[in-house]
Amino acid sequence: MRTHDCGALRASDVGKQVRLQGWVNRRRDLGGLVFVDLRDRHGMTQVVVEPDDAAAFAAAEGVRSEYVVEVEGTVRLRPEGQRSQRLATGEVEVVASALTVLSPARTPPFLVDGSVDASEVSEDLRLRYRYLDLRRPEALRPLLVRHRVVKAIWDFLDARGFTQVETPLLTLSTPEGARDFLVPARQAPGSFYALPQSPQLFKQLLMIAGLDRYFQVARCFRDEDLRADRQPDFTQLDLEMSFVDEDDVLALNEELMAHVVREAIGAEVATPFPRLSYREAMERYGSDKPDVRFGFELLDVSATLANSGFRGFSAALEAGGVVKALLVPAEQAAPLTRKALSELEEHAKRHGAKGLAWLKRTAEGFSGPAAKFLSDAETAALAELAGGEGATLLLVADEWKRASTALGAVRLRLPGLLGLELDDAQLAFLWVVDFPLLELDDDSGAYTYMHHPFTRPRDSDLELMESDPGSVRAHAYDLVLNGSEVGGGSLRIHRLDVQERMFAALGFSREEARRRFGFFLEALAYGAPPHGGIAWGLDRLVMLLAGTGSIRDTIAFPKNQRGADPLTGAPGPVDAEQLAELGLALKPAEPGSR
Ligand code: AMO
Ligand code: AMP
Repeated sequence: MRTHDCGALRASDVGKQVRLQGWVNRRRDLGGLVFVDLRDRHGMTQVVVEPDDAAAFAAAEGVRSEYVVEVEGTVRLRPEGQRSQRLATGEVEVVASALTVLSPARTPPFLVDGSVDASEVSEDLRLRYRYLDLRRPEALRPLLVRHRVVKAIWDFLDARGFTQVETPLLTLSTPEGARDFLVPARQAPGSFYALPQSPQLFKQLLMIAGLDRYFQVARCFRDEDLRADRQPDFTQLDLEMSFVDEDDVLALNEELMAHVVREAIGAEVATPFPRLSYREAMERYGSDKPDVRFGFELLDVSATLANSGFRGFSAALEAGGVVKALLVPAEQAAPLTRKALSELEEHAKRHGAKGLAWLKRTAEGFSGPAAKFLSDAETAALAELAGGEGATLLLVADEWKRASTALGAVRLRLPGLLGLELDDAQLAFLWVVDFPLLELDDDSGAYTYMHHPFTRPRDSDLELMESDPGSVRAHAYDLVLNGSEVGGGSLRIHRLDVQERMFAALGFSREEARRRFGFFLEALAYGAPPHGGIAWGLDRLVMLLAGTGSIRDTIAFPKNQRGADPLTGAPGPVDAEQLAELGLALKPAEPGSR
């Protein structure tokens, strides 16, 4: 129907008869002429309607923003001085000989013509009318990046002998640490499918089946608290490989990532990516997903404060903990006002610290709440560390992980507070490796898996599984980009006896393990190859590559921060009849709940 899209015409097309179709971005009436900016996803073309063409002119006078129209006309050069650098079609315009309204449009609830910044429109309104929101090139752009990312993944992995396989969405629970979304089964009242938290067990079964190399752009479902980088319904690039060691998996992923970044946004990333052990990442950055685009590494001042007169420090050290410190040098410390420091303290407390002590270098020694407790030797040692007058140390004393995590959270506040510009175009990829297999759960006091129960312990640490489970290291790795975890994976347990020991270490009885994972344990008994893989958080990766602030921007129809879809109204109630068919009855809402 159309001869060109709205972004196609150039000076070389001058004189051509064309037919364009698109949305009216804006109509302007100027000096007896009507200008219509015609828009589609490819671009925008200026259409001029002159009064001597009475029918077209009358039609043009009737159109309004977001009408869908067809224009026939001739391409001509715009007069000198009216050419636009901003538009790809900016040298030309189409003089209309006919203009037809294909669909009228209501006035949209917010302007999509580029004149209003989307941040001024509430996100719920944009999501309620997502089909209008996506008419904005800025809103569409992340979806185009996403398309290129997925295409690059397919091309690369296909060439490397990977086979794409779809795994079920109606399945049994796959533990990844979140709650399941459940789907009641009509055929078996009282029974439920779970939507997969990941394809983990299926991809391992595919390795046992001999598929060798698998991938899938896989939908995953997790019922967990939502944040800017989490959706209940999200997408992984999931992949798995047989007969590989950890280096094989990491190397393939580095090459794949370099290819994806090049194809999707035209940027180069250097490989191999730096590797940090979990221990080192926590020590230096207080995070297992460090943003290494800026410094401010954490220091350990436990030795200096070993005999501290300040109870906050000495209590933590006596209990086997540490005192971690961040140093803000004198030249950068001006923004650390009392108010800023007390906000940082609140932030540290939200992340588990008992407090945040600060020591500010003065001419004589230090000021700050803990300063009066410092001995001369401590003052001298810390002064040497801190440097010139004004330099400020921020300190947290606690058990190692708690102190590191809380101060790591404070560290992430520093760029904003101190006015350091972080370059989002810089892509600081790194691997965090050597995770512990298990960690002690603060609440239950029992060991729980750090990734999932199928992660392979290091062979050399196997003997510690029963005697010292906390010190067993895993063949597990996370892929981190600019402080976000964009992927996680591991080598897997491929021997039944090791898998059973893992379940035992997690406190599962044999019966419980059989009941929940019997099908999988049985499969392991039939000859499993050594295998391993990873899953990338595709939405998060696209968010970072496209430079948007939320993963919702990378999803065509996302849920809002309350897990709801303002467009369709999901989640919604169902008919009594549907419930009856499923054998379900709703409890009356508790008074006081919604
Ligand atoms: P994991 O649980 O680490 O590993 O998930 C892999 C990656 O998925 C992304 N991700 C999310 N993205 C958006 N919203 C969410 N709610 C969400 N949850 C996770 C993260 C994360 O790094 N089966 C294993 C992978 C494996 O071992 O191969 C797994 O699912 O970027
Ligand atoms: P308090 O003695 O609890 O009044 O605390 C005095 C100061 O020390 C406050 O600024 C607290 O934030 C800080 N503080 C208390 N406990 C700790 C701790 N474990 N680590 C670091 N600072 C602390």
